[in-house]
Amino acid sequence: NWSMNDFIDQQIQKIRDTVGDKKVLLGLSGGVDSSVVGVLLHKAIGTQLTSIFVDHGLLRKNEADQVMDSLKGKFGLNIIKVDAQKRFMDKLAGVTDPEKKRKIIGNEFIQVFNDEAQKLDGIDFLAQGTLYTDVIESGTSTAQTIKSHHNVGGLPEDMHFKLIEPLRTLFKDETRELGEKLGMPHELVWRQPFPGPGLGIRVIGEVTEDKLEIVRDSDWILRDEIAKNGLDEKIWQYFTVLPGIRSVGVMGDGRTYDYTVGIRAVTSIDGMTADFAQIPWDVLQKISVRIVNEVDHVNRVVYDITSKPPATIEWE
Ligand code: XMP
Repeated sequence: NWSMNDFIDQQIQKIRDTVGDKKVLLGLSGGVDSSVVGVLLHKAIGTQLTSIFVDHGLLRKNEADQVMDSLKGKFGLNIIKVDAQKRFMDKLAGVTDPEKKRKIIGNEFIQVFNDEAQKLDGIDFLAQGTLYTDVIESGTSTAQTIKSHHNVGGLPEDMHFKLIEPLRTLFKDETRELGEKLGMPHELVWRQPFPGPGLGIRVIGEVTEDKLEIVRDSDWILRDEIAKNGLDEKIWQYFTVLPGIRSVGVMGDGRTYDYTVGIRAVTSIDGMTADFAQIPWDVLQKISVRIVNEVDHVNRVVYDITSKPPATIEWE
């Protein structure tokens, strides 16, 4: 009879047998999978694990701090945080095509990770949060790539690590359950999906610091209201996007010409198909009022009422 506690015991033993007295490196993305691997490995081998957390500046508001507070502060992982915001912004300057943005962010992530890893000595193993679904997907050739779903944290090619992938037999839900069994906070392990390229594909067109700030602040308000109204576990994914159009508004007795923020919220089982979530009007109203009042340079909020297909969940 398979239980999560047995799984934890077996994996810890297996990791210890494999690693011996050698050292392991882990790339933390801020997501659930790599965080769970981190906590599991730390339990198994403690200080033989070093983690690198690349902050690409495309995370949600407070997210990098939360990752550090929880994994380093609470669980005691040894984490090297790399503040690479400028590197990513420089590479993204002037780029408007979504697929180009994905490639740049994915490549730069690997570069930054490599640069940091070179500085470390005597590492034999690289740990990764590969799930069973990733194993299956990479084994089949999909007929058509709609979006190149870049997951941050690919294996650096010129490095010769041996791989440790303790989640290879688990589905996403089991990974979350494992996280909870390991004592990770519920809200951290049951977080909504967040794409590797982060807010970089939620600012439509060129990514600038000013635009990122609008997305970050409006997204924060949306998440706050969704949680306050008890909707966070009912909606698969919810976020704001900045289409980059400006329109005329009126504030006080002045005319404004400012940005429109889009709200995207969907229900789904696996992200392959989705319906727009039917958030109650009064909640939407509250969100809209707050975004316009609290976020500078926004004078209009729209709600995306398309399902997938024909629309995708992300706007890019
Ligand atoms: P779409 O927009 O294709 O999204 O309907 C389906 C799910 O995939 C996520 N997504 C990504 N995840 N890298 C990722 O790791 C990406 O480039 C990417 N693009 C979309 C999206 O957030 C949704 O959960």
